[in-house]
Amino acid sequence: MKSPEKPAKSTNATTGKLWGGRFDEDTDAFVESFTASVNFDKRLYRQDIAGSRAHAHMLTQVGVLSADDLASINKGLDKIETDIAAGRFNWSVSREDVHMNIEAALTEHIGDAGKRLHTGRSRNDQVATDIRLYLRDACDEIAKEATRLMHGLLDQADRYNATIMPGFTHLQTAQPVTFGHHLLAWFEMLLRDLDRLADTRKRLNKLPLGAAALAGTSYPIDRQITREMLGFSDVCENSLDAVSDRDFAIEFCSTAATCLMHLSRMSEELVLWTSVQFNFIELPDRFCTGSSIMPQKKNPDVPELVRGKTGRVNGNLVSLLTLMKGQPLTYNKDNQEDKEPLFDSVDTLLGCLRAFADMIPAIEANESVMRDAASKGFSTATDLADYLVRKGMAFRDAHEVVGLAVRHGVENNCDLSEMSIETLQQFSDQIEADVFDVLTLEGSVGSRDHIGGTAPSQVRSAVKRGRDRLSTTYRTDV
Ligand code: ARG
Repeated sequence: MKSPEKPAKSTNATTGKLWGGRFDEDTDAFVESFTASVNFDKRLYRQDIAGSRAHAHMLTQVGVLSADDLASINKGLDKIETDIAAGRFNWSVSREDVHMNIEAALTEHIGDAGKRLHTGRSRNDQVATDIRLYLRDACDEIAKEATRLMHGLLDQADRYNATIMPGFTHLQTAQPVTFGHHLLAWFEMLLRDLDRLADTRKRLNKLPLGAAALAGTSYPIDRQITREMLGFSDVCENSLDAVSDRDFAIEFCSTAATCLMHLSRMSEELVLWTSVQFNFIELPDRFCTGSSIMPQKKNPDVPELVRGKTGRVNGNLVSLLTLMKGQPLTYNKDNQEDKEPLFDSVDTLLGCLRAFADMIPAIEANESVMRDAASKGFSTATDLADYLVRKGMAFRDAHEVVGLAVRHGVENNCDLSEMSIETLQQFSDQIEADVFDVLTLEGSVGSRDHIGGTAPSQVRSAVKRGRDRLSTTYRTDV
């Protein structure tokens, strides 16, 4: 309540705030820093300036701003952009956020024209526009790193198209596969992620600016001019939704979490494979670190860390879902909390993709170790059953026969391919000398010769198709 003897204070000069007109007292010092976002949203300065340029240009086109005002606004924004990039800009917490820091600096530089920039606009449609512009660029950068990683996978799959390793179910030896085929499974996971990213980009590429605070504006704006200048495919159709929607950030965080989940699964396999017990692959020293106490250690830190970082990216998705779930229309200050989780998911995913894109081409397979492992654990048992089926036996009967042969192998510590023909014939008189063609590892993988199968020739053609599919999945023209 105002005390009667207190003079009415109603200018910005009282509080030093751009919105200070109706305020009687200064903001509490703690509240000022508690509510400020500049320390993290200054990262949006390029997008904020691009949005201001487009808005001012549009206002000039429709006759709300003069050409002179536009020229000084552009000049002032150029200087501010250069100053920020050079680290010369004086960011101020009392100016709350990136938007008001830039607007206040503009007015300091160019005077009254700076005060006219915010005509027909609100920070609500401004920030929604900034984040979409930022995220569009982030998606493109992430797609670039993901594509680099996927090319690495295709190259390695081609190189190891005929290298035999055990394929696992339940982490138990199941059937022999080629290492190239295994790497192509990773490629498929990432290609789906890239497709999801393209879809995320498509939906976020819409312009909120023009919604103003929530209801639109009474100025004769032309949103198509702004849309075109900022490269959006469309305008957001409803002003209330435009300022309050953060689905696009949630969708991005979900795409990022799914991709990290995939990188984490790959990491888990790399960690297992570099262990002395598996010894399937070598990771170059530059992707590993040692132990301060155990001199023999070479730890696969990069994949371990990628696996660990999946946690925070999952957390960011849950943060944003929870942030939005209780909000009434339209903008609420809660929304300021969207940025840190979003930025963190972008940075984390980008870093993990970069590390993987560098590391994957450097992996060397220990081919003889992989092969030895595949020759243990009765990995060609299914091939023997299929052989008996081809000789006329029903699959269930063949399964039983091979089960008995495997039991014999376990008791006598020998693989199916190491048994003599006489031994094998004890289990079925349908077994003949040609059985050894299917009991070999090469015979086993070579026989799975259909699209999606593990045969080396199939791996080679899948690599070729993979390159084409990769070149058309992520598009920036939609
Ligand atoms: N810093 C704010 C944010 O990040 C900008 C929008 C503020 N709008 C408002 N009406 N207080 O969400």
